This record gives sequence, structure tokens and C-alpha cells, in this order.
Amino acid sequence: MTDHAPGLPHGPELDAEALRERALTALVTARARTALLTDSVDDHDLTAQHSPLMSPLVWDLAHIGNQEELWLLRAVGGLEAIRPEIDGLYDAFEHSRASRPSLPLLPPAEARIYAADVRGRALDILEGAPLHGAGRPLERAGFAFGMIAQHEQQHDETMLITHQLRSGPAVLDAPEPPRQTDAVALPAEVLVEGGPFTMGTSTEPWALDNERPAHRRDVGAFFIDTAPVTCGAYQRFIEAGGYGDERWWAPEGWAMVREHELSAPLFWHKDAGQWLRRRFGVTEPVPSDEPVLHVSWYEADAYARWAGRRLPTEAEWEKAARHDPASDRSRRYPWGDGDPTPEHANLGQRHLRPAAAGAYPAGRSPSGAGQLIGDVWEWTSSDFLPYPGFVAFPYREYSEVFFGPGHKVLRGGSFAVDAVACRGTFRNWDLPVRRQIFSGFRTARDA
Ligand code: AVJ
Ligand code: FE
Repeated sequence: MTDHAPGLPHGPELDAEALRERALTALVTARARTALLTDSVDDHDLTAQHSPLMSPLVWDLAHIGNQEELWLLRAVGGLEAIRPEIDGLYDAFEHSRASRPSLPLLPPAEARIYAADVRGRALDILEGAPLHGAGRPLERAGFAFGMIAQHEQQHDETMLITHQLRSGPAVLDAPEPPRQTDAVALPAEVLVEGGPFTMGTSTEPWALDNERPAHRRDVGAFFIDTAPVTCGAYQRFIEAGGYGDERWWAPEGWAMVREHELSAPLFWHKDAGQWLRRRFGVTEPVPSDEPVLHVSWYEADAYARWAGRRLPTEAEWEKAARHDPASDRSRRYPWGDGDPTPEHANLGQRHLRPAAAGAYPAGRSPSGAGQLIGDVWEWTSSDFLPYPGFVAFPYREYSEVFFGPGHKVLRGGSFAVDAVACRGTFRNWDLPVRRQIFSGFRTARDA
């Protein structure tokens, strides 16, 4: 699939030319992936709605171009609108996903030309942009370019979800992820000592508004799973009657299970006593040692209660992933400050599935927890809320309008997110009923 993308610029040591190179690589990497996801199906598939939860792929494609036009061409470059009449069609707040197929969307050929036209002009602007020490916050350290590369990669993950929901034969392919590479039996959980740590960031140049600012948080000692909960462990919850036992469920979760008659993660079914799953057009046995995918927050919460445990809070997750007790410093990633490599984490759609629990020993945190970055998005127990001192930037609709008890935070990124949109501080969120996303979880307990 797409090659590993170099991560983010960090620290003031990068000069304008290095920043320009980073931004260019991030934009080019994102576009190669967008092309893969939209060129692998025909025009009928591009314009069809594969699920009422998702937009037609051709909407994502033109929306990617439209956001790039708004922020790079108009806001940074000062250019006039190319086609002002289409802005409304691609404003995610004007039309629900379910209603998008009935809009007069640009047909596939026009959407491709539009996105390519915008990109050509964006690269011209990037060439002349001052980037380093620029006065406007939008341009500082190439933020707008990094934001737009992250936006495209986030929609690429969304389009990969649409591919997973699409019926019909497989059109995507990728090599298998690595098997566990160290033979040492891992402990089931690791201890994170109590005490304050620094959460969030004020220095990561391309961090989005909801990751800011850095602030101290006190977190009591806790144990957290060494790896995400596996399909095998989750099957034991199913076989123990977990979906039929109200005791394990939050009231709204229990209502969801009853209403939709849920009995397993999305895309699973049982055939002749064996659990099978559908994955990008292929039906296969559920692999017992792989992190479970496609569970809602309610299912993760119920499993944890059944196991006598709980979901980690968002602060616990970030402390486990970033805090280095030796230096009392919060680092960019579990393994340190260096950008992710294919040895550290399963990111960027290099593979079309999570790696087995225990993989990526080089990516472990000082406490010994692994696979915090990549593989599966991990549900936390926390509502999506602003950090103290939050300032919406550059627009309220990115984060601020989603703050509140309705959305739960997911951390760490999945195999389907690129490194440019994944780091120890990165925050994702969704409704607690959502299961089509690449979501899993790990559990925790007080020490
Ligand atoms: C952060 C993944 C919840 O897809 O709704 C894309 C990212 N924001 N376009 C989403 C986003 C605007 C967002 N999530
Ligand atoms: Fe968007």
C-alpha cells in the first residue's frame, strides 16, 4: 500500500526548506493513498452509497479538494474561489452523510480534475510560502499544509471504512503484518506508577487544536493491558453469554444490544460452530491472537466489566504511552521522540489488518506496554472535552462543536491511519454506538 510517510517536523531545529520538504512529502503521500482508494473501484462504486453511515467515495474525494482549496488556496494563498457554487455541497455540516448521494455532486472525472487542479496550485503556494517564523499562525511551521495533509489522511481512513462496508469481491490487497518477533512471554498487564505527568502539547508544530495546550495531570497508579484485547479473549466474553447479561452493560449499551440484537463484533458471523469475519471482501476465520476490531464503546465497556476491569481514562492512556519515568518527560511516542518506522508500529495502510498481540517490540513504552500506536484505535472511558486553556483553531467545527458527553475519546491510531495523523497526543472521538470504525480497546485497573 502507501509507503511509510516521514512523520512530523518537531522542534525549532527544522529550517524553512526542511519544513517545505516535510509538507510536500505529507501531501504527496496522502494523494497517492487517495488515488489508490478511489482508482481501485469503478465509477458506479465511486458514486454509490455503500452504507447510510458513509458518504459516497466521490464525495470524500471532492471534499478533500474543497478543504484544501479553502485553507491552502484561499486562506494562505489569498486566491479567489475556483467554483464557489460547490462549497455548500462539500461542507460536512450542511448535508448529512445519508443525504449526500442525492446531491448534485461532481461526477468522478470532474472530482478528480478539481482535486488535481487545487493540488497544483497548493504546491505553487507551498513553494513560495515563508513557513519558518511566518507571522500568521496558520502558516507558522507550515501548519496549514500539515493540517490539510492530516485531513486528507483522515478521509483516506474514512474511505477505507467505506471499502470495508462495501459488498462484492476484494479490490484491495496488502502484505501480511509481522508475526510476534520476540519469543519472551509477555505479562498480561504492566504497572504505571502514580504521579503527575504532562498531557497534551504546546510544541508539536502540526498538533491540532484539541491536543493543546500541554498541562500537568495527576494520575494515580494503575495497571494497563500490555496489548489490546484479542479476538480470542473477546470470544470468551461472547461464549460466556456476555451479550445476554445485562449486568455488564451501561443502560444505553444494553438498549443498543437489545434493539439491534447484537451478539458479536461487526462483520463477524458464526458458521458450523466457527467464528468467521468478512474483511475487505474476503471471509476468513477470526484470528484469535489479533486485536479485536469493530466494537462499539458499549461493547468495550461491557467486556471490561465482565473481565473485572475497566477502560483506561484518556489521561491514563496518554501517560502509559508518553511518560518516561527516567526523565519525567512526556515524549512524542511510546518509544521516544523519533518518527514511527515500520519496526515501531502498524500504520499507514501498509497492512489491511492489525498485527498479532505482542508484535512490534521496538514500539513498546518504558512501562512495557505495546501497540499503543497503530493496529487499532483504542476506546478510552473519557468524554471528548477541551483541555484547560483550549482555543479553537483554525475553525470551531474541527473539534469544539463535538466537545461534550456525547462523544468518547479513542487513542493511538489504527493500521488505517498515516503517521502524519497519529502521535502520542492525537485525539480521535466518536459516538459510543459506532462499530464500523477501526476500533478496539485495552483494559485497565487501579493499582
Ligand atoms: C477526527 C475522525 C472524528 O472524520 O469526522 C475530517 C476528522 N474532521 N474532516 C471525522 C475530520 C473534518 C474527524 N474525526
Ligand atoms: Fe473533512
